[in-house]
Amino acid sequence: MATDLSMYLRRLPKAELHLHLEGAISPETLVELSERRIARPGAAKLPVLTLDEARALYRYTDFSGFLLAFKAITEQLHSAEDYELASLRMLERLHAQGVVHAEVYVSVGVVYYWRRTSFEPLFAGMERARIAAEQQWGITCFWIFDAVRHFGPEEAARVFRKAAEMRHEFPSIIGIGIGGDERRTGAEPFRELYEEARAAGLRLTAHAGETVGPGGIWGAINIGAERIGHALTAIEDADLMAVLAERQIPLEICITSNVRTASCASLAEHPVRSYFDAGLMVTINSDDPALFGSDLEDEYRLAAQQFDFTREQLRELASNSLEASFLPPERKVAWLQALEQVV
Ligand code: ADE
Ligand code: ZN
Repeated sequence: MATDLSMYLRRLPKAELHLHLEGAISPETLVELSERRIARPGAAKLPVLTLDEARALYRYTDFSGFLLAFKAITEQLHSAEDYELASLRMLERLHAQGVVHAEVYVSVGVVYYWRRTSFEPLFAGMERARIAAEQQWGITCFWIFDAVRHFGPEEAARVFRKAAEMRHEFPSIIGIGIGGDERRTGAEPFRELYEEARAAGLRLTAHAGETVGPGGIWGAINIGAERIGHALTAIEDADLMAVLAERQIPLEICITSNVRTASCASLAEHPVRSYFDAGLMVTINSDDPALFGSDLEDEYRLAAQQFDFTREQLRELASNSLEASFLPPERKVAWLQALEQVV
């Protein structure tokens, strides 16, 4: 039975701002994709996955292993139909948690680098799902094209320029970001590409300070990132904390992710409470729910139960998520008013 807290969390209109489409796919859905593929005339004849085989893809013990697991899951996506079903399932689950708007990373960088295939046909499936979800459940969704930083700026350029080109036809493509391994590649090599993306009207995000120190977050801010994914190590630098507070730069905090990838040694050491108390613009997100066994509602529940966020503070986190979204101002105002009505 759902607890009072769960019901309350579900009632809060909120935005999910740091969620990877591929990391939201469950092993069960991967199996279903492989079965549907076999049944589809003309589809690639790949072997059907068993549930055990699918589950094996989700195992990792450290951050590098996690990135490999993420890549292995992404490699299971072959067609527009695969992207469509994955997107639809993701949006259905978000809606069930009271998420009214999502800004979802899609790893175009992985598709380009490992697949050497064009992305437009796959994107058509994502768009079908996005439109169907909005019609059925009222949830809205923007896409963020994510490059893999350790593949370097030339590969990132392909991803960002594709986003810039496609957004004319598909305004749901709202921005770009860099994920992957920041221990291997910092933010600075992407400076010019970020400038170019901004000039093309794209919004800028970056994973930063997840597996490296505060220098990684300074780097992301310096190249113009408007939101910071993770920002786990900002706590180590008082000057950075002051800048983040003063500028109210939104942080896409992903608590369970940080512990599961061993980026944070333990839940007790996670800085989310310190950030909030220091007046930083904290948002709560799930990152890769299928890899971490934790969805957005779980993350808010964790904030309440492990970090003592009161109900009013949980409402503030939901409010931050709407405020920090790339929605137009009038849509933000409407959702913020709806949020105020929740008791
Ligand atoms: N890709 C998917 N999840 C990621 C994460 N947490 N960090 C870096 N790259 C990612
Ligand atoms: Zn991420």
